[in-house]
Amino acid sequence: MKQKRFYINTMGCQMNVYDSSRMAAALAQQQYKPVTDYRKADLVIVNTCTIRAKARQKAMSFVGRLEAEKRKDPDMIVAVAGCVAQQEGEGILDTFPQVDIVLGTQAVGRLPRLIDAVERDGIRRVDIAMSDAVVETDYPRGRVDQDVSDYVTIMKGCDNFCTYCVVPYVRGREASRLPENIVNEVKALVADGVREVILLGQNVNSYGNKENFGSFADLLSRINDVEGLMRLRFTTSHPKDLSDDLIEAFGRLDKLTNHFHLPVQAGSDRILRRMNRKYTRQSYLEKISRLREVRPDMAITTDIIAGFPGETNVDFRQTMTLLEEVQFDNIFAFMYSDRVLAPASRFKDKVPMPEKKRRLAALLERQKAISFSKNQRRVGNTETVLVEGLSKHALRKNKTEKAGENDQWSGRTTTNKVVNFYVDLDFAESQPVKSGSLVSVRIDDAFAYSLSGRATHILHDFKQTRGNVNAA
Ligand code: 5AD
Ligand code: SF4
Repeated sequence: MKQKRFYINTMGCQMNVYDSSRMAAALAQQQYKPVTDYRKADLVIVNTCTIRAKARQKAMSFVGRLEAEKRKDPDMIVAVAGCVAQQEGEGILDTFPQVDIVLGTQAVGRLPRLIDAVERDGIRRVDIAMSDAVVETDYPRGRVDQDVSDYVTIMKGCDNFCTYCVVPYVRGREASRLPENIVNEVKALVADGVREVILLGQNVNSYGNKENFGSFADLLSRINDVEGLMRLRFTTSHPKDLSDDLIEAFGRLDKLTNHFHLPVQAGSDRILRRMNRKYTRQSYLEKISRLREVRPDMAITTDIIAGFPGETNVDFRQTMTLLEEVQFDNIFAFMYSDRVLAPASRFKDKVPMPEKKRRLAALLERQKAISFSKNQRRVGNTETVLVEGLSKHALRKNKTEKAGENDQWSGRTTTNKVVNFYVDLDFAESQPVKSGSLVSVRIDDAFAYSLSGRATHILHDFKQTRGNVNAA
């Protein structure tokens, strides 16, 4: 059979990254191999995001560019997957004649069959069927990359209906996977060399509630017991579902990292109510302080929306003061964007664009200074770093991706901070650093978004750690 080439352009959140990896694994089992230039592919998949208008625009402008490619090579198959596909379905075929397949968020497992069908009869296909239950065959495993860290989806969908958010409409109702299946998947990944697992879901801390699968903290305990796993992370959490049970788990479970991503969205109770978030500024602050009681060095990151409809200057100032009070390690801040399916798009009193821009810039500027000064306080510390591979700088310098003596490496602290580091030569000779090694790094310098230093010794290495370099 003729070998064919595929290219996947993945946009948006980790859920899309995970779905793309499943599609890539499924294609690799057929006659497909990945290529890095979409113009050389027989199959191009655009895995789209529609969380904000800009994300949708970016995705669809890439789809637009494929028209010229399809004209050059009419046999090329173009598939649009992800959240735009789910929302717009058939409409995509009407607007974009170059598209052959529209693949909804719950149809990822059916991609190979759709490709076969299109190849057979040339008829364009739309599959945006949704199911309220978890379908295990939606989670085929198989890995294409050799990363130290990998995702495991534990639940799909969201039932929270925050008024700005399109997710419940394009990802469907919340449904959790069976704990046994999750634990087995983690074991298989660890056997394959993965050191860090990131559990994924739109709202992981309500895991299992509907199904009575036990709590999220119970699941974490079971995964913590998997031998060979070094680090356990999860994203994303909702403050209203952050239970005492979960906070206590951080006191008990050694593999849980010192990082909690807890989207707050706004600092004003009035805006939180209009967003349908179901917590208050005060209850959010209390949860943060309890997390810090259990883990004093817990890094906290968050998401913030600037300029939600009706947000006054007074409301916004409360978000600014929240930054001071919490001292986040980092924030992801966005200008509010209307999404037709989400109720806030019908709210009156929209904040004008220039004002949204001003608020976003103010948030980012203040946070940059906070992140910088928090990172500065780590200079002189020794941090434990899980090595991911050569640093971006070294990879650019060294296109062959062969590790040289003076290469800079990169990894993360348990607080999820990127550390770029050089290795002291005397120990590099006896114990070469590899991706997957756990090393001690003395921090010599700090920036707003990363740290740098020198590795002083290897704390842990694994016999089965693969290859020297993690192809990024
Ligand atoms: N406009 C702006 N930001 C949004 N987010 C979700 N929906 C919107 C929207 N309509 C942000 C929230 C969420 C993050 C993933 O994206 O902060 O936590
Ligand atoms: Fe969207 Fe809210 Fe669900 Fe997060 S919790 S996916 S912001 S509706």
